[in-house]
Amino acid sequence: MTGHLIVTDEDATRVIKLRRPDKKNAITQEMYRAMSEAIDSAQDDPAIRCMIIAGSSGVFTAGNDLEDFLQDGTSGADTPRTSNATKFLYALAHNSKPIVAAVDGIAIGIGTTLLFHCDYVVASTTATFSTPFIHLGLVPEGASSLLMPRAMGHHRAFATLVMGRTLSAEDAQAAGFVNAVVSPGQAEAEARKAARDIGALPAEAVAISRKLLKPSPEELTRRIDQESHLFGERLRSDEAVAAFKAFFARRKA
Ligand code: COA
Repeated sequence: MTGHLIVTDEDATRVIKLRRPDKKNAITQEMYRAMSEAIDSAQDDPAIRCMIIAGSSGVFTAGNDLEDFLQDGTSGADTPRTSNATKFLYALAHNSKPIVAAVDGIAIGIGTTLLFHCDYVVASTTATFSTPFIHLGLVPEGASSLLMPRAMGHHRAFATLVMGRTLSAEDAQAAGFVNAVVSPGQAEAEARKAARDIGALPAEAVAISRKLLKPSPEELTRRIDQESHLFGERLRSDEAVAAFKAFFARRKA
C-alpha cells in the first residue's frame, strides 16, 4: 500500500483503489509499482478469486503522471517507457485472475487502455474514456493497438486511439468494452457484486476459460515491448516534450 493506492482484501476479492484526488488520480511510478505488486501477489493466493480496480467518485484516472512523462522526455536517457509502468503492463499481461473495473468519471490514457486487460467493466453514466496519445505526440501503449481493434473493430479503435475521440459510457458499452452502466457513485458497488458472482464460480474452470478467451501473455508482452520501444522514442520527441510543457504552462497561466 502507498498513500496513493489502497489495496484491501475483502472476502475473496482484492480491491485496488487509486487515491490521488488532488491530481485526478494521475498514476505515478510508485503507484504503478504498488499496483503491479497487488496483482502479482494475488496470482498464487488461492484465497483471492477476483480483483477490482477502482478510482474514486467522479475520477477513475487522468492517466500517466505528465510530470513523469516530461522528466522521461527531457532526461536524455535512452530507455523505453519508464520501468514501473512497463512492470504494471506486464503484470496485467501475465495476470490469471479475473479483474473487474469500476469507472466513475474520467478514464484517460492508461485509464482506458488498462480496461482492455480487464474482464468485466462497470461504468457510471458520467464516465468518459479517452486516449489522447497522438495529441501528446505519443503512440498507443499497453497492448491497446492489439486489444482495442480486436474488441471494437479497426474503425472505432482508429477514432479512439489515433483521432483521440472521447467515448461516453453509452458509446463504450456499444463498443463492447463496458458491461454495465450505472448511476454516478454506484460503479464500485456494482463491481463488488460482479466480483462476488465471479468469486462464487468454480475457480479452476474460471481460470481455464479465461485463459482460452484472452491473447496469450507472450502475444501481449510482445506487443507491449513493441509499443514501449516506440513510446520511449516518442517521449523524447519535440512534439511530446512541447505538449507536456504546454499542459503545465496552462496550469500556471
Ligand atoms: N499528470 C499530472 N498531473 C495531472 C494530470 C496528469 N495526467 N492530470 C491532472 N493533473 C493535475 C493538474 O496538473 C492539476 O494540478 P494542480 O492543481 O497542482 O495544478 C490537478 O491535477 C487538477 O487538474 P485540472 O487540469 O486543474 O482539472 P480539470 O478538471 O480542469 O481537468 C483533466 C482534468 C483530467 C481533463 C486535465 O487535468 C487533463 O487533461 N489532464 C491530462 C490528461 C492526460 O493527458 N493524461 C495522459 C494521457 S496519456
